[in-house]
Amino acid sequence: FGYLNYLVERDRRFILDTLTNGLARLEYRGYDSAGMCLAVDGDSSDETFIFKQVGKVAALKKLVNEQQVDFEKTFISHCGMAHTRWATHGQPSQINSHPHRSDAKNEFTIVHNGIITNYKEIKTLLEKKGITFETDTDTECVAKLTKYVYETQKDQTLSLTALVKLVVKELEGSFAFIFKSIHYPNEVVCTRRGSPLLVGVKTAKKLKVDFVDVEFGNTAENVTPTPAEATTGFLSAEDGHPQLHRSQSRAFLSEDGMPQPIEFFLASDAAAIVEHTKRVLYLEDDDIAHISNGELHIHRLRRDENASTTRSIQTLEIELAEIMKGSFDHFMQKEIYEQPESVVNTMRGRVNFEKHQVTLGGLRGYLPIMRRARRIVFIACGTSYHSCLATRGIFEELTEIPAQIDLASDFLDRRTPIFRDDVCVFVSQSGETADTILAMRYCLERGALCVGVTNTVGSSISRESHCGVHINAGPEIGVASTKAYTSQYIALVMMALQLSEDRISMTERRNSIIDGLYKLPHQIKEVLAQDVNLQTLAKDTLSKERSLLLMGRGYQNATCLEGALKIKEISYMHSEGILAGELKHGPLALIDENMPVILIMTKDSLYPKVQSALQQVTARKGQPIIVCNDDDKDLQKDYKTITVPQNVDCLQGLVNILPLQLLSYHLAVIQGVDVDFPRNLAKSVTVE
Ligand code: G6P
Repeated sequence: FGYLNYLVERDRRFILDTLTNGLARLEYRGYDSAGMCLAVDGDSSDETFIFKQVGKVAALKKLVNEQQVDFEKTFISHCGMAHTRWATHGQPSQINSHPHRSDAKNEFTIVHNGIITNYKEIKTLLEKKGITFETDTDTECVAKLTKYVYETQKDQTLSLTALVKLVVKELEGSFAFIFKSIHYPNEVVCTRRGSPLLVGVKTAKKLKVDFVDVEFGNTAENVTPTPAEATTGFLSAEDGHPQLHRSQSRAFLSEDGMPQPIEFFLASDAAAIVEHTKRVLYLEDDDIAHISNGELHIHRLRRDENASTTRSIQTLEIELAEIMKGSFDHFMQKEIYEQPESVVNTMRGRVNFEKHQVTLGGLRGYLPIMRRARRIVFIACGTSYHSCLATRGIFEELTEIPAQIDLASDFLDRRTPIFRDDVCVFVSQSGETADTILAMRYCLERGALCVGVTNTVGSSISRESHCGVHINAGPEIGVASTKAYTSQYIALVMMALQLSEDRISMTERRNSIIDGLYKLPHQIKEVLAQDVNLQTLAKDTLSKERSLLLMGRGYQNATCLEGALKIKEISYMHSEGILAGELKHGPLALIDENMPVILIMTKDSLYPKVQSALQQVTARKGQPIIVCNDDDKDLQKDYKTITVPQNVDCLQGLVNILPLQLLSYHLAVIQGVDVDFPRNLAKSVTVE
């Protein structure tokens, strides 16, 4: 988030509050630390204040307020930028938080979203030049590179835009950046590639024009090329010094033709801007936006004859909640569709697919205790409980440690015996579910090792447990948990894989599971591509029903329970997950030609047993809808089917849950109920 004013009198308090509010609006995305930078342009000191803090935006605000800064001093031209960080390179810590700087004088300061994939090469090169680093982040390399390029350029007239162009040309990966420098007071340059970035424009009067001309840099012609840095590709000769021509149009004249007071808001998400202004300009990849003296100019990284030559300032008509939903109708739908990426985020930096290795940094130092445990007890509520159920089998198989699974409330009701050599794993999306927290405190008191698995950095469970794993699924807003389920599931599988890495006899099995994890994002996409069929199935076949049974066994028992929970919690249709092995012990009495049944029959070692369940159902005139693998041609001929790609048995539930999530979503939409906020339920149940 960034802020600049021009001819608008503002005191520092306003700037700081604007920055912290901007960050608060982005909190829903999840983060582990925050920081901001306040450049006192217009002040002769050229001073830049940088504040960083681990944890919440509120903690950063507190830190700022404790500083000896004259907050009441006003400026008509000012600039600040702020950032919330979710650690990718380097652990969450004050030093690793943004803004990052080029040196102790803060000559160049930047904030960055995304990942610079070639940062190691850049770092190595800069280190060879004698430059030292203070953080483990990829971002710091960019700040240092900017200073390095600035200093090695002979051209003293190099603009900040031209400098940023030279730097960005060296970067690989995805990014949205804001650059700020004491050498260019009152100026900011921002740019993006792959990560979103937009500029909000706030003026008192109406703008004369609603667009900004794009300026195409004259990249090489009448300039002396800089000698290429032989080994790195830095500043190759063809780049030279871009000479940028100024646009003829001053974008922000008011209707009467006069320059006017103006404020700019930069953000990665409109959610942080709409409360200030609804007039926004979305940057495109490789746009380099330069803001100074109340003007916004957009340059292109490279000459591109085909690129459009203007960027329009649009008026957002939508409200905050809708913006956060993007193009989706509901958060739940968005979150279902995020799963190809969220599962990758859970595995990022942890699974080495080539070497077949899994490393969970949060369990470092605790693995020997876990391996020696006399049992592992998994404790959770709701969907999180189902993720434990879904992975229990593979845990037992790989680790051979007895695994117990408990619903937190029942675990407490029973005052379950817990001992010092137990390991207790608490799985919770929010990390704030009261029953789960109480169960954890109960186990802490009894001396067991407590491991947290949560999606919320800084939550009670992540703070109070001894160690743990953040599932990194990104914020989940819909009450019905979807992407957190698949990410919890993967986190627990990763835990089992790591715990069993010393077991030679398991190598082949472990390798096949890691190969299965690799296939997963693509397979999830394949299932999502069938959404229209599932919508039709929901509408034509299921929406009029009063009840729906889901049956399966083995790994698919959890899928059935979770699918049934999704259906009942958001569409209010009665739904039950049934272990197919229990059919004869009761549920079979419900079956006739009128009872809708979904039978999960994907291929694994239990397939023949599920076939017999199918026969039991059809013999009672039941007409099940079958979830089967896409190569199971016999089934597809004879029954109504939902086909899914095949994965290794213990991961198949991750694929199979997708159509059930989508079905439940469509059933809820058809019922006209509030999908994201079903009646009587809360996202985070913080009372017992
Ligand atoms: C509530 C939510 C569920 C969630 C459960 C456990 O019931 O509506 O979606 O699965 O709590 O929450 P937790 O945050 O501990 O995973």
